[in-house]
Amino acid sequence: MNIKNQVILAFLSIGVLGFISSSYIFEPKELKGNEKILDIVQNLGMDMPLHFIPKNKLDSAKIAQGKNLVTQGFLNPENKKTFETRQSRHFVCTDCHNIQREDPDLSKSDPEARLAYVAKNKLKFLPATTLYGTVNKKHWYNDDYSKKYGSLVIPARDTLKNAVQLCAVVCSQGRELTQQEMEAVMHFLNSIGYETNELNLTDTEKKHIAKAISEPTNANKEDAVRILKSKFLDYSPATFMNPQSLEERGLGKTGNASRGKQIYELSCMTCHKEGGVTNYKLSEDKLTHKHLKFWSGTHKTFSIYDITRKGTYSKNGYKPYMPNYTKERLSDQQLEDLMAYINEMAKK
Ligand code: HEC
Ligand code: HEC
Repeated sequence: MNIKNQVILAFLSIGVLGFISSSYIFEPKELKGNEKILDIVQNLGMDMPLHFIPKNKLDSAKIAQGKNLVTQGFLNPENKKTFETRQSRHFVCTDCHNIQREDPDLSKSDPEARLAYVAKNKLKFLPATTLYGTVNKKHWYNDDYSKKYGSLVIPARDTLKNAVQLCAVVCSQGRELTQQEMEAVMHFLNSIGYETNELNLTDTEKKHIAKAISEPTNANKEDAVRILKSKFLDYSPATFMNPQSLEERGLGKTGNASRGKQIYELSCMTCHKEGGVTNYKLSEDKLTHKHLKFWSGTHKTFSIYDITRKGTYSKNGYKPYMPNYTKERLSDQQLEDLMAYINEMAKK
């Protein structure tokens, strides 16, 4: 073999070795389960939303600060030296939103399945959608929320940052987030985006996706994106309900009292307990329940049929208010369940 051929051979083998090693790194044979969906979508070459931060760029200090802001209203609640003002004097985000997964099947918004899931996982059952996976949504403040907030929702519909600012000011009755707070919150929200093991993917579907990542032909990519999209809702549906007419109300006759107890404890009591966000206290005692039972056959604000569907509004001088429950967050059957529990407690 002459020198020239040896050189060619050497180059060829470097090339082959290089090819083998690069395909070793970039060809996952299967999904591990903890891949973030948005990272996969980026890997497939799709356009990414403005709020997206890839997993390997997430900063753990910012994640922790963002979580503090969402759960306590401050980036650094421990550090007394920084003169940080609380985002809202009336609420924290987690009064109305969970920050954990709350639906057993992410492709459905079903309040009955959700109640069973949150009860099992010791979470709350709240009027607003969880912030878990909110980075995976395409639209926010959907459907009937435009009725409540009018033109305010227009900028908030298509951009997560705007949705957060709207909620900070209008829902939380507080101030807008500073740039630093927003950045921390975005790190936190990206850290709680959906992962592949949460999507009910079949083994075949997982193989398709792994293949699309390693062999990104157009057909594979489209296939993978289609599969991923079919596994979760990319917006949280919201249907406002009018309070049922007095004739339509079952007043608990067809309700399940043990599910009603869960709703009372995991939803109503989170705000109406001692130390909660409102001055109007609910409790386990008989008088509270007799009172709720008495008003349930009317259209007054103390009627659970009316207050849950209409909520209340902030007033000057008294900012805490009650968000209305949409059909997707509390079904008519669940109102009957709650009523059955109230009847039972009123009798004790
Ligand atoms: C008093 C209740 C309340 C508080 C406090 C609150 N929110 Fe909300 N938020 C809502 C309601 C109601 C909606 C309407 C849509 C939904 O979540 O279903 C909403 C919507 C959102 C959305 C869009 C969700 C979607 O899928 O449509 C985001 C994001 C959000 N809030 C973030 C926050 C953040 C961040 C905070 C804290 C700074 C906060 N919210 C505080 C009640 C609240
Ligand atoms: C996110 C917090 C929150 C949740 C959850 C919540 N409420 Fe409220 N609720 C409020 C606030 C704030 C008010 C306004 C109270 C006031 O004026 O002091 C209110 C008002 C009420 C009132 C009317 C009181 C009045 O003074 O007119 C009733 C009745 C009521 N809530 C029942 C319920 C029931 C039943 C549930 C559960 C299905 C529930 N609430 C869930 C925050 C909440």
